[in-house]
Formats: sequence, C-alpha cells, structure tokens
Amino acid sequence: MPVPYDEEPVMTTTAPESCLQANVFHARSPESVDAGAINARVDRDAFAAVRGIFSPDEMAEALRSVRAGFRPELDQPAIGEAPAAVMRNFQKLAIGGAGNHWDYRPRFMRTIYNPLWEPDIYGMHAVFRRLAQVRNVLQQKPLNHAIDTIEDGLWTAARLQHYPAGGGNISRHRDAVISTVTGDAGVARFHQLLLLITSKGSDFTEGGAFCEAGGQTYDLESEFRAGDIVIYDGTTMHGCWDVDPHVTPRLDTLDGRLVALVSLYKDMSADARAYEGYEDCDVDAGAPVDEV
Ligand SMILES: [Fe+2]
Repeated sequence: MPVPYDEEPVMTTTAPESCLQANVFHARSPESVDAGAINARVDRDAFAAVRGIFSPDEMAEALRSVRAGFRPELDQPAIGEAPAAVMRNFQKLAIGGAGNHWDYRPRFMRTIYNPLWEPDIYGMHAVFRRLAQVRNVLQQKPLNHAIDTIEDGLWTAARLQHYPAGGGNISRHRDAVISTVTGDAGVARFHQLLLLITSKGSDFTEGGAFCEAGGQTYDLESEFRAGDIVIYDGTTMHGCWDVDPHVTPRLDTLDGRLVALVSLYKDMSADARAYEGYEDCDVDAGAPVDEV
C-alpha cells in the first residue's frame, strides 16, 4: 500500500562514503550481473548499484544526444493525458502534487517517455535496451523479456526523468504500487533501476537522489555517478533532494539532473481510465479521484 506522506522521516545523516562504495557491484554486461548477490544486498540495505555496464563517457555522449533531440515546446501538463499516451513518445512537466490521488507526493520534474517501438529521437534506445536487460537478469526473466514488445501484459516504460536545475525534486516515497503491479503479473521481484546520466559535482552541485536505510539517509550521488545503475525495491524509501536550488530554473534547457528508467508498466492501452499502479504516479489520465 502507498505510504502516507506524513510518515515520520528518519533522522537525516549522511552515511560515510564507504557504506556506498561497499554496495557497488561491478559488471561488464547485463549477462554478467550477479543477481543473487545484488538481490541479497537490496534485501539487506535497501539499495545497491551496478558499475561498469555504462561508462561515464557513454553517458556524456547520451546527454549530448538527448539535448540534441530535446524540444521544450513538447511539454504536456502534469495531469490529463490519455492512458495510452505514455506508450508513445510523450513529454510532461510536473510541478506540485496534482494527480496523485492516493498520496501527496510533490515534485518538480520532467518525464520524457521514449518507448522502444517509437522513433529513437534521443538516440537512447540502445542504452534503454541494455538497462532493461539488467532489469530482466535481476528479475530472472529472459534477457529480452518485454523490451521491444508487450509480454505477459507488461511493457518497458523507457523514459528519462529530468530534475531541473533550480529546485528539481521529488519528495520521499516508496515505489510500492508498481511493485504490486509487477507482482500481480508474475514477476518474482520488483526492481527499480535508475541509470544516472548526470553526475553530482559536475552536472549539478547540490541535491540529487537519496534513500533511507537502517536509520540513516544516504546521499547516493555523493558516490554514485554517471554510468552507475542504482537499484531499489518496493520497500526502499527514497526521493530526490532539490537540485541546485540556487540556480534560476530555465525550463527550455535540460540543465540539472537526468536519469533513465525502464520500469515494467502494465499495458493499459485498452483501458478507459488510468491504472493506478504507476510509481511516482507518472500517469494520471484524468480519472476522477473517487475511481482510483
Ligand atoms: Fe520512486
């Protein structure tokens, strides 16, 4: 069940970097990912990271490519899109908590959906496919499960999340709802994978991803950098601190923090109203509040 927004936060202390370093797993390819070890670490510590499948240089090139394809005029509102809209190339800008029927989860972020059957307008499809293969290995599914097609009623919601310089953020939450969705669809474990395209310290200086575990709050991007895959599960309390709040937001740019995600979403293209099982409530579709 969703976690109430007013749940007491744990004391915020920054864990020693060594704690973060100890949770980095090295791999050269999706097939070489040690799913058993990583799953055990996520069970123990609420998070882990995989380094080596994507390089910082590859992410720098990805950032250039995304910027080249970015069109700020494509921004859509935070709520109101049709259920199947995100199964096409689709971009939305969300500020505040509107559309979160089951939880109040304010954010300031842009989401750019780029499904793998759509035109590769950001040059990101190869990156998304490799990231989705890591997800499949962790979930003990066939390597290319539900990546380019809908399988078992699920598809890969390949997308970018942009947390703009000037305060981009999402408040602390768990991805508990989508966890239930994938569980219902026969996926043994839920994983949320974040591929960092930007690095704290170079692309932005303040804020970024945090998670809570063992009574501590981890400043994940004090250690994890562009090319690292950060892994949560449905129990991990996490969010994104304000990205460079000292900067004036310029929403016609992609300045700030950029990450790539490949969550499994339920195919609801035939549904008349929104499905509520999306983490971060990315999809609203204008469903009346009392229906979800
Ligand atoms: Fe989340």
